[in-house]
Amino acid sequence: MEKQWWKEAVVYQIYPRSFKDSNGDGIGDIKGIISKLDYLQELGVDVVWLSPVYKSPNDDNGYDISDYRDIMDEFGTMADWEEMLQEMHKRGIKLMMDLVVNHTSDEHGWFLESKSSKDSEYRNYYIWRPGKNGREPNNWESVFSGSAWKYDEATDEYFLHIFSKKQPDLNWENVKVRQEVYDMMKFWIDKGVDGFRMDVINFISKVEGLPDGEPIEGSDYASGSDYFMNGPKIHDYLQEMNQKVLSGNGLITVGEMPGVSPEEGILYTDSSRNELNMVFQFEHMDLDTVHGQNKWHYKDLDLKDLKTTMTKWQKGLEGKGWNSLYWNNHDQPRIVSRFGDDGKYRVKSAKMLATCLHMMQGTPYIYQGEELGMTNVKYDDITFYKDIETLNMYNERVNDKQEAPEEIMASIYRKGRDNARTPVQWDSTENGGFTEGTPWLGVNPNYTEINAAQALEDKDSVFHYYKKLIQLRKQHDIIVYGTYDLLLEEHPEIFAYTRTLGDEKLLVVTNFSGNNPVFTVPEQIKGSYELLISNGVSGGDMPSEIELEPWEARVYKSK
Ligand code: NOJ
Repeated sequence: MEKQWWKEAVVYQIYPRSFKDSNGDGIGDIKGIISKLDYLQELGVDVVWLSPVYKSPNDDNGYDISDYRDIMDEFGTMADWEEMLQEMHKRGIKLMMDLVVNHTSDEHGWFLESKSSKDSEYRNYYIWRPGKNGREPNNWESVFSGSAWKYDEATDEYFLHIFSKKQPDLNWENVKVRQEVYDMMKFWIDKGVDGFRMDVINFISKVEGLPDGEPIEGSDYASGSDYFMNGPKIHDYLQEMNQKVLSGNGLITVGEMPGVSPEEGILYTDSSRNELNMVFQFEHMDLDTVHGQNKWHYKDLDLKDLKTTMTKWQKGLEGKGWNSLYWNNHDQPRIVSRFGDDGKYRVKSAKMLATCLHMMQGTPYIYQGEELGMTNVKYDDITFYKDIETLNMYNERVNDKQEAPEEIMASIYRKGRDNARTPVQWDSTENGGFTEGTPWLGVNPNYTEINAAQALEDKDSVFHYYKKLIQLRKQHDIIVYGTYDLLLEEHPEIFAYTRTLGDEKLLVVTNFSGNNPVFTVPEQIKGSYELLISNGVSGGDMPSEIELEPWEARVYKSK
């Protein structure tokens, strides 16, 4: 297997709005990030992925960019950003910027020009179409509810927006658009960034003619995803980007790719194809959604599905591509509330989940607060919520379709993105030490118990456990490069697997339940093993029968 620094790295995601506020305006900022770099160094992460900090009217918290070469006022200045990069590099931490180029803000100069006239030289930077039979050009639904088209009276045409109305899709067919994007990427590379996380990058190539999607019963609109995900020219565009910008720079790149399969994952990440280092796939994030429905139709996780999906990706990319490993990000509910137990076994189950993920093959990503075992939040009233996806869905279903608000709130508690976006809980002072002012989104009231100050003090905290997992990755090549094999495919509570590198073996056994299932070590891997890490037992050789504590995790390594 080809060795690469980014295969050995651990990435930490910062969602700047909620990370740390330095000036009391209730919004996290770059100076706040600088003040917490020692904390990240202590945790031991190698790379920070910074969610967007560019100029933005914040319709979607920075994922709607109005100037790619400037910093959002609330977050600080370019000088602050430069200082942050310098301070990161001083501590041996690399910086990966978020690249959001499927769409811009409707307040971006290109769009303002584009909508000014059909003859504008920027018209073709976006996707404009005349209406069809007095309606939108096709029946695609926006990810954020309603039609994916907005009518513009001035020029009597519609523009496409797969996300919000304020996020018009760029037209990648236009070579000028592509060149603008590459120039902008070079601008940041020249400033010293070490990589890019590419927002919904597999949406940039749309099928010619933008055909209608299969209508959904009971809905005015249809999913157009067959016509914009992994589209016909996606690999040409990524190879062009690689050749013009990425190649030879030693950068870390990850493409966010809803709807990607392992077969396509190989096409994107096989190093000989010169596209990306890795992708964020979503199959494991869809397992608690009712099949064929949108994410709000939730169901409980069946552990067997999780094992099947993770194994499919582990084996699918083995030796051919590279996995990214994540449980959390700014769009997902908190993992300890989702697949763990955020009550009695919060600490235990958070550590178990971390073990299960970090021992797989791939580059692990930690989302801010995950290392503290932060949990989902429940606000009684919709007015406390700020996320555009959540609010649009609520409006459509409660106000337009008259569905029961209690049911909608229940799905927001389970799946809403604000679960991940409540401010980081730094200490037990007011507002969890996030701000001296009023936080833009309420701090989870459990900050008095769950916070970084407590976690740093307590040697048994989730934080110290993550730190140890990161250290182990640096000490044992097998954690990075070993091959993965699933054990006990059918067990409803235990997720166990091995990793193999040459003569070495790791055995990972995790209990996804509050019960005490027994793991019998299979004949073929019996031998002399020692405990590498556990959230239960503290040492000793491997027994042939392991009675697991609730939510226990153990990793044994061959001697
Ligand atoms: C994916 C991002 O992670 C999400 O936060 C955002 O709303 C959409 N892409 C649109 O940029």
